[in-house]
Amino acid sequence: MKAILSDIHANVEALRAALEDVTKHDVDDIVCLGDVIGYGPSPLQCIDLARLFQFSLMGNHEDALLFKPLGFNEKARRAIEWTRSQLNHPNEPPEKKRWRWNFLGDLKRSFTENGVVYVHGTPRDPTREYLFPADITDKQKMEINFSKIETVCFSGHTHVSGLFTEKGYISPVVGRPMKLKGMGKVIVNVGSVGQPRDGDPRACYVLFDGESVTFMRVEYDFEKTIALMKTVPELDQYLVKRLRTGR
Ligand SMILES: [Fe+2]
Repeated sequence: MKAILSDIHANVEALRAALEDVTKHDVDDIVCLGDVIGYGPSPLQCIDLARLFQFSLMGNHEDALLFKPLGFNEKARRAIEWTRSQLNHPNEPPEKKRWRWNFLGDLKRSFTENGVVYVHGTPRDPTREYLFPADITDKQKMEINFSKIETVCFSGHTHVSGLFTEKGYISPVVGRPMKLKGMGKVIVNVGSVGQPRDGDPRACYVLFDGESVTFMRVEYDFEKTIALMKTVPELDQYLVKRLRTGR
């Protein structure tokens, strides 16, 4: 079984809680669909944990850090520049700096295993395109994205968990396996570990056993993350509210 995480966003409290929850299940591999960094106060700790995963993909925040912050607002850009300063911090041992940058530089934009596609954004644009629940009515957008996959695709990026099928959108059920067989082609958004935006502040991830997905929600101490964020002026404080409300 795989545990599929995404959008950790440098929130190590949320990541640790999710990883602890993972240990309660029969999980062989942990994967991350991108955005290990950005917004949050603990990028280095999150990278250090993510490098132990089977694989991580390049999210738009890693892409912004390595290349250009395309489409980033001022707040997100400042967080990226602060993240860069942490990665290059003079107190960090040179070999750690090197392998963290190598880890980021080696991230792939998509991964396919047993016919299952893994992306950060969408099958059409694996790094930047968003697929929100409302997009289910955009016939052309859905069709082109479904045409790029064999059966199942896992994605993140919107921070909103859910299932997109050729017949419609299905809201996630928490903690109960949802069978993918019979759904036809399906794009599963695994939600966000470190910054959920679907009204539930708990860390979100998905278990996948090859046939079913189970959406998991894990409580964590977001006040610890918020307290840490308040010590970093470069991180925008509007995120404080977002972590508390999950919106
Ligand atoms: Fe994200």
